[in-house]
Amino acid sequence: MTKKLPPPTIPTHHVLWLGWKIVLILSVSLFTFALFRLHHQPRLSPLALSRERSLSLGRGFSGTPKLAFLFLVRRNLPLDFLWSSFFEDVDAAKFSIYIHSEPGFVFDESTTRSHFFYNRQLRDSIQVAWGESTMIEAERLLFATALEDPANQRFVLLSDSCVPLYNFSYIYKYLMASPRSFVDSFIDAKEGRYNPKMSPTIPRDKWRKGSQWIALIRRHAEVLVDDEEIISVFKNFCKRRPPIDVSMGKLNARRQKQHNCIPDEHYVQTLFAMNDLESELERRTVTYTLWNQSAATNENGWHPFTFTYMSARTKQINEIKSINHVYYETEYRTEWCSSNSTLIPCFLFARKFSRGAAMRLLSDGVISHFDASALLDSHP
Ligand SMILES: *[C@@H]1O[C@H](CO)[C@@H](O)[C@H](O)[C@H]1NC(C)=O
Ligand SMILES: *[C@@H]1O[C@H](CO)[C@@H](O)[C@H](O)[C@H]1NC(C)=O
Ligand SMILES: *[C@@H]1O[C@H](CO)[C@@H](O)[C@H](O)[C@H]1NC(C)=O
Repeated sequence: MTKKLPPPTIPTHHVLWLGWKIVLILSVSLFTFALFRLHHQPRLSPLALSRERSLSLGRGFSGTPKLAFLFLVRRNLPLDFLWSSFFEDVDAAKFSIYIHSEPGFVFDESTTRSHFFYNRQLRDSIQVAWGESTMIEAERLLFATALEDPANQRFVLLSDSCVPLYNFSYIYKYLMASPRSFVDSFIDAKEGRYNPKMSPTIPRDKWRKGSQWIALIRRHAEVLVDDEEIISVFKNFCKRRPPIDVSMGKLNARRQKQHNCIPDEHYVQTLFAMNDLESELERRTVTYTLWNQSAATNENGWHPFTFTYMSARTKQINEIKSINHVYYETEYRTEWCSSNSTLIPCFLFARKFSRGAAMRLLSDGVISHFDASALLDSHP
């Protein structure tokens, strides 16, 4: 027989004291946690917050969708006068602008002639070394920041020398109509940029190459921002070989044996191949580059041709605008340009344009009917 034990009795004042103790401990730990969060906030945002954002924002967005223009620039925007004319009279609900410039560089009356760019720089920008992984980190920061606005449904990455080849409404319709991203991506069997040390995380058959200048749908922008695995492999094993420096003697010879890799020509393409997203892409870019073949013979390979006032002739621009397919030699693949299954010209933007060349686009009325006041309109 078991004797039934009486329920344990605790004096009331004891219960109260215990309650207070719990409350005290809880508040102290909450306070400590809050302090910790506060302290770490700048490092958390915005990349680490991406998962919460992916779940809560942007999906099933029902308002006017925005096209986000992401400018990756060295310092200022030398072609701001052309972009200013491009954005003039456009419904502000249809676009947004983000700029990644060097840390501390502020876009205001003293650094740009266009109010569209005032304070559009990222606050947490980083120092970018061209051809190194900081470049793709800067790209990811741009996408992460733009994802914070659920209205942003398409994202286009541009450089400081990029120009639009059409007016806003044409470009907006083109990109909004496409349920796919535009990512130039191909297999280049001849090149040795793949580093076997990336295996097994990145197998050789997923290694891709392509233009850095991409246009993404929101879901793909989230994949780019949420990636932690592929970016860390790139940081470790995709590094640019330092340029030849004979003054360094033996050290130079050793440096020249180093594996050569340019992160921004492989990262997004390889990441999307790894995520089986290639069937959701138009595998080409919307940004035209003319390659300067006379520069191809030297050590650094192909270089983009820079358009000047003289070379940005209407005939040349119209030729670029009439291109309707791209041939990928290494894959024997012809990409007929389309958006939402409709055949369409390939290119919406072009690089690299000097100020003179951009001036000519403006005066030739490429992006809008020429309005001299756009040039004279000086902000204080
Ligand atoms: C924009 O450009 C397209 C194609 O070039 C043209 O059909 C359209 O009329 C232009 N729209 C405006 C508002 O200028
Ligand atoms: C894509 O094309 C289909 C079929 O032509 C059309 O019904 C649909 O509205 C288009 N989508 C967009 C976003 O324009
Ligand atoms: C093309 O490359 C050559 C050789 O590097 C260079 O001298 C020339 O300025 C380049 N032309 C343009 C327009 O970029």
